[in-house]
Amino acid sequence: MIREVLKMGDLRLLEKSQSVEAFGTPQLRELIADMRDTMAHLNGAGLAAPQIGVPLRVVIFGVTRNPRYPDAEEVSDTVLVNPVITPLGEEMEEDWEGCLSVPGMRGVVPRLKKVRYQGFDESGNRIDRSVEGFHARVVQHECDHLDGILYPMRMRDMAQFGFVEVLFPDQELRDE
Ligand code: NI
Repeated sequence: MIREVLKMGDLRLLEKSQSVEAFGTPQLRELIADMRDTMAHLNGAGLAAPQIGVPLRVVIFGVTRNPRYPDAEEVSDTVLVNPVITPLGEEMEEDWEGCLSVPGMRGVVPRLKKVRYQGFDESGNRIDRSVEGFHARVVQHECDHLDGILYPMRMRDMAQFGFVEVLFPDQELRDE
């Protein structure tokens, strides 16, 4: 079921989410199905449970030639529960980000270039990956939502924050 995505300004987006305690439950599967439906409907690259008002540590992401990120590399569809991110090195990279909770906007955000992420899929199987670049950026963005952090809160230069239609006038698809 497609759910409503909370927008920046909603205090629920600023809360710290709780760990999932039981895997393979109907409730968890339904949550993830709703997140998938909602992300696909809005053509997003990722979605965190608190964005649909569920304060649990669950994120999904995946990019297969997403028109919102025409130059982005592919990232396989992933469900990540109770994620832990470990920096691999100190190198940071800046790039444009958008967020379904900040519709119509883009901003330049510094992120760690390389990270390791660990967690579980919806059945409780372990996930442990070391990634870099866009994949690393997406994971950091989504996991930030679980700690109540939206990407504008990570920005260093608010001069690099604006409306998609102004920043990228040739981009055809919008995120609303
Ligand atoms: Ni987001």
